[in-house]
Amino acid sequence: MKFSGDKSISHRALMLAALCDGETIIHNISRGEDIHSTIKCLRMCGVDIDDNSNKVIIKGGTLTEPTSELNCENSGTTARLLLGLLAGQKISATIIGDSSLSSRPMDRLTIPLELMGSQIKNNNCRLPLTIKTDYLMGINYILKISSAQVKSAILLAGLGANNITSISEVNKSRDHTEIMMDQLGIDISAKNNIVKIKKLEKKLNPFEIFVSGDPSTASFFAAAALLLKKEIVLEDILLNPTRLGFFYLIEKMGAKIEFSNEKMNFGEKIGNIKIKPSNLNAIEITESMIPSIIDELPIISILAANAVGTTKVSGAKELRYKECDRIEAICYNLKNMGVEILENDDGFEISKKEFNGTTIKTYDDHRIAMAFTIAGLISNGENKLDNKDCVKISCPNFYDLLKVNII
Ligand code: S3P
Repeated sequence: MKFSGDKSISHRALMLAALCDGETIIHNISRGEDIHSTIKCLRMCGVDIDDNSNKVIIKGGTLTEPTSELNCENSGTTARLLLGLLAGQKISATIIGDSSLSSRPMDRLTIPLELMGSQIKNNNCRLPLTIKTDYLMGINYILKISSAQVKSAILLAGLGANNITSISEVNKSRDHTEIMMDQLGIDISAKNNIVKIKKLEKKLNPFEIFVSGDPSTASFFAAAALLLKKEIVLEDILLNPTRLGFFYLIEKMGAKIEFSNEKMNFGEKIGNIKIKPSNLNAIEITESMIPSIIDELPIISILAANAVGTTKVSGAKELRYKECDRIEAICYNLKNMGVEILENDDGFEISKKEFNGTTIKTYDDHRIAMAFTIAGLISNGENKLDNKDCVKISCPNFYDLLKVNII
């Protein structure tokens, strides 16, 4: 089965296209609402984006100051990357979001941007936030929490900062920004989890890109196939190692997986993943593994409830700052389904149990909704979601894809 393009790569392709002098073409862009939030914000900054057919055409060059607030809605990636982009281009703007995004921490990004020279007014480290930048200077910054959103925002700001901007992180987060910038000829280097970027002194040339299938969305279908003991082939998936943590993990749990048709696509590996019917064993998940499975932990919790033994997740406090507090959401719903689960500050422990359908509190979070829809496929009795629609954030055709390919 095929998926629309990876959400992380789609955001980055749009934002970098906005800086390119001429017409960029993006094929197979993610159709999630988060991407629409990025498109709307960039349009408000003067970027001409034609999104009327299978390909999205962006006429970029110079950003202009928006005349009203930029609403990033539910999208943390839009808000954080956009802040970096605006800083680098010295554009003043106010950023707002929905109630979920307005409760998520922004100081992890405002601190380094202020150190570089931006002036930022915010609401107790949360949105709404107003940024103004007259002058930017490169910094050497150590990320306390591995975060691709923060790293990418600093890199985008670094495009407009004098001298060199350097960022280091302990556990490597996804590196799509580094790869795409390198493909575009930007002076960037990455070694031993340290990324260095130089100020962009010339205009970027436009590009044409096919966005590989989203491995985070694909993980829900891989899990459904495993739970229902079906074979499935996920086609044209982004195979960047920083995004494959879920697949490496289920392989360790006992899943039979085959990668094939691997090739390179705009600096990133792409290929097919076949999942064969397999039995799963519990696993211990620790902090160093978290960045590469950060978005997949909700569906991993469902697999853990079906794996022989007790699965322990630790070092995952970041899950509390996603679209909702995902540790709370996972524990609340699994408990209600009758699963034995112990909630910790930075994770949870789950033991195999048969479970019952119940009413699921999605917290309006797309990944909680998708994970518990999959749980409902093997529960005694149905799961009823309090908000089915929120899957639109990353996968608007989730229920159709499930019907056609799995059920
Ligand atoms: C993203 C990075 C991740 C991830 C999010 C998308 C990105 O967040 O959870 O869904 O595109 O950079 P952090 O790495 O910032 O935790």
